[in-house]
Amino acid sequence: MSNNARAARIHAYGPPEVLVFEDIQVAHPGPGQVLIRNTVIGLNFVEVYYRRGTFPVPAFPAVLGNEAAGVVAAVGADVTNVKAGDRVVYSDDVHGAYSTLCLYPADRVTIIPDGISDKQAASSFLKGLTARYLLKETVNLQAGDTVLYHAAAGGVGQVFVQWAKALGVKVIGTVSSEEKKLVALDAGCSHVINYQTENFADRVMELTSTIGVKAVFDSVGKDTFVDSLAVLQPRGTLVVFGKASGSPPLVNPFDLAPRSLNLTWPVLPVYVATSQQLSTAAADLFHAILAGMIKVEPSRVYPFEQLVEAHRELEERRSTGAAVLIV
Ligand SMILES: NC(=O)c1ccc[n+]([C@@H]2O[C@H](COP(=O)([O-])OP(=O)(O)OC[C@H]3O[C@@H](n4cnc5c(N)ncnc54)[C@H](OP(=O)(O)O)[C@@H]3O)[C@@H](O)[C@H]2O)c1
Repeated sequence: MSNNARAARIHAYGPPEVLVFEDIQVAHPGPGQVLIRNTVIGLNFVEVYYRRGTFPVPAFPAVLGNEAAGVVAAVGADVTNVKAGDRVVYSDDVHGAYSTLCLYPADRVTIIPDGISDKQAASSFLKGLTARYLLKETVNLQAGDTVLYHAAAGGVGQVFVQWAKALGVKVIGTVSSEEKKLVALDAGCSHVINYQTENFADRVMELTSTIGVKAVFDSVGKDTFVDSLAVLQPRGTLVVFGKASGSPPLVNPFDLAPRSLNLTWPVLPVYVATSQQLSTAAADLFHAILAGMIKVEPSRVYPFEQLVEAHRELEERRSTGAAVLIV
């Protein structure tokens, strides 16, 4: 038995136009699976990497999409954690969210609590879980610490900045335009540097009275990596978690020795690998939203059919915050 769905697939890597809408068949859920009727799809930069082939897809044609909220349409045998009709959200490296229907492992879906809309869930689950582990689990940050966060007006960026501020961590942000500067300041950055027009390393050293920062959160990669290492205080940590501008250069570990620096490249799936880790992190994220510590309204809402345009805006750096697609 199978179900008809409308999905955006790629048959080859390439520009946004390789995303084509097609009718597909989605199987009925087997043991341990759920069938989800997506309502709102979250857009993430990682999907640009998969579309371009920066990260490989398992096979062609591929339905991309890493995050969505929706309603459980059917469950397979032995599934007890969710039932038909439940509102759920999911975000993993299992592709398939760019579709009206998605088959998903039941133990990787999370029930959306009352008080959080599908739009809020789809705009914040992947980005919020990421901001959370970056802030709380990669570096031992304390209230009063100062960190540098690149692309602070972005999707993960805005959640990170708001949450850090709520915990008393000071964030210096970088952005590529004056408009984005206002967005990052509004999210809660103490200072924002336009790294297109200013030397961010000089500015950070100035702003920290030449001490440097305890940690740098860098998802830009190639363009920022070297200077990100330079602005760390002794025993500081560079957390590289993306490469929007390309791969950073190779590092000789011995270069870290003079200031005893730490370097890590964490990925969300490792931090929410077990169902227990996922539910603990999701509960913390939902609590932060419901308690008003972070606001997670989407900054841009597209109809699903405008996926190609949404990809273009994201990769051309025209977006701020989180975009979602209404199915
Ligand atoms: N490792 C993990 O666990 C994990 C999880 C989620 C996301 N990520 C990474 O976190 C980053 C943010 O994700 P997001 O979905 O929230 O995206 P986003 O921050 O909304 O968009 C990416 C931003 O990167 C900046 N950027 C700098 N150089 C760029 C370039 N050459 N091309 C395009 N953008 C460039 C742009 O901000 P400016 O215009 O201000 O420079 C752009 O808005 C991505 O790199 C993503 O892969 C990693």
